Amino acid sequence: MKKYVMAFDEGTTSARCVLYDREGNTVSTAQKEFKQIFPQNGWVEHDPMEIWSVQIGVAQEAMYKINCTFKDIAAIGITNQRETTVVWDKNTGVPIYNAIVWQCRRTAEYCDSLKNAGKTDMIKEKTGLLIDPYFSATKLRWILENVHGAREKAAKGELLFGTIETWLIWKLTSGRVHVTDYTNAARTMMFDIHSLKWDKEILELLNIPESMLPQPVPSSSVYGFTDAHIFGGKIPIAGAAGDQQASLFGLNCFDEGDCKMTYGTGGFMLMNTGNRPVKSENGLLTTIAWGIEDKVNYALEGSVFVAGAAVQWLRDELGIIKNSAETEKMAMSVSDTNGAVFVPAFTGLGAPYWDPYARGAIFGLSRGTNKNHIARAVLESLGYQTKNLAEAMASDCGTSLKKIKIDGGAAANNFIAGFQADITGCDIVRPACIETTSLGAAYLAGLATGYWKNIDDIKENFAVDRVFHPNMSEDERNKCISKWNEAVKRTKGWIKS
Ligand code: G3P
Repeated sequence: MKKYVMAFDEGTTSARCVLYDREGNTVSTAQKEFKQIFPQNGWVEHDPMEIWSVQIGVAQEAMYKINCTFKDIAAIGITNQRETTVVWDKNTGVPIYNAIVWQCRRTAEYCDSLKNAGKTDMIKEKTGLLIDPYFSATKLRWILENVHGAREKAAKGELLFGTIETWLIWKLTSGRVHVTDYTNAARTMMFDIHSLKWDKEILELLNIPESMLPQPVPSSSVYGFTDAHIFGGKIPIAGAAGDQQASLFGLNCFDEGDCKMTYGTGGFMLMNTGNRPVKSENGLLTTIAWGIEDKVNYALEGSVFVAGAAVQWLRDELGIIKNSAETEKMAMSVSDTNGAVFVPAFTGLGAPYWDPYARGAIFGLSRGTNKNHIARAVLESLGYQTKNLAEAMASDCGTSLKKIKIDGGAAANNFIAGFQADITGCDIVRPACIETTSLGAAYLAGLATGYWKNIDDIKENFAVDRVFHPNMSEDERNKCISKWNEAVKRTKGWIKS
């Protein structure tokens, strides 16, 4: 009898591996950060080979810690930072350029040209996405245009493209399996989320050969087996989903209208819209939540690019904290921000504004502003961004949100959770396990291999830690929000001004 399911959680700044048992308990875990490469202002890259070796390293470490072998593992599920683009040589397995990370803004001008050419509606209709450098398609095009010899090699069928789950599956199977799951495909801006196929018109527009693209597959299915040399024997690779969709699944948002907010590097609100792809009129994205067997669930998504990364910035760049957890006490030690409003537009603004030219700012500083006020303003910015997304979601769905589940590292911070309840007016539900991204990937893989029988089996594992209820007057809330809106307005288009 297999004891565990193994989840790979390949995020923006670190790779983790978690082994889960049937009750959804973490049995062993290992995590390691990898290098962030910033070649120019607004550009972000990763080394795909480093991602691969770090991911395998943490998997072996997690197994070693509890003395388990491949024989104990029922399946591997993979979840990953989405949109990040890797292109590699099919014959040598060597990437021809660094991975261009989802945060990278290098294709902003090309995206403008697509918008100016009137392509917004066509792309939105088919892919559910807005034209933005965030998504993989223009990053892939950039590599083909700018890496010496890439176009020729692609034309000869010698190059492969993948988002990170595709890259890891290809490596795990020693090049035998080249697939992407529907949720990741839905973030490329080349995938028709209705027909579940690569879209020929978009591929032609961007001059991307279809032969490079992986085969789109459901999120829960056996794709192949790990090459025996990696873990000493074969393990089925049976599930994959982008990290935000995996967390929606891990948080048990199985019903239409269920909504969650995850705080990772960025912040991502997703609402399950069932089998209906809801078109947004308010700057949100329509995306695939998961595909299981022949059924596809859709979601509405609000993506903000900087959430937890703003807290890291306090630690790494300003040096005013030693660790993220300290910010809770700092923020609670003052009654307000003393007028400071922080907009974390370090890599432009995502939903609902979509402005790649915005940059971060702190407004309202006075001589008495201290580091506790700044820390509080940074944490509050996470709540304001959530409020923006909740409002957009409510307008798109024609009903206001009552409850939001939260997860990710910053969900542990009571100030963030409480302020989020105050500013959104919603109940904020924090589960006992806030690392639900990897759990979601494990569930998808475990379902495909019979480790968990069905969704009901999974539901039994869900437990709530605490519910934060709103505790702010309407008047106070409106005042805060109007200051925030004004601050955001002033950061827009900054690098163009
Ligand atoms: O779309 C980007 C997202 O998948 C990144 O997630 O957890 O690394 O912030 P995270």
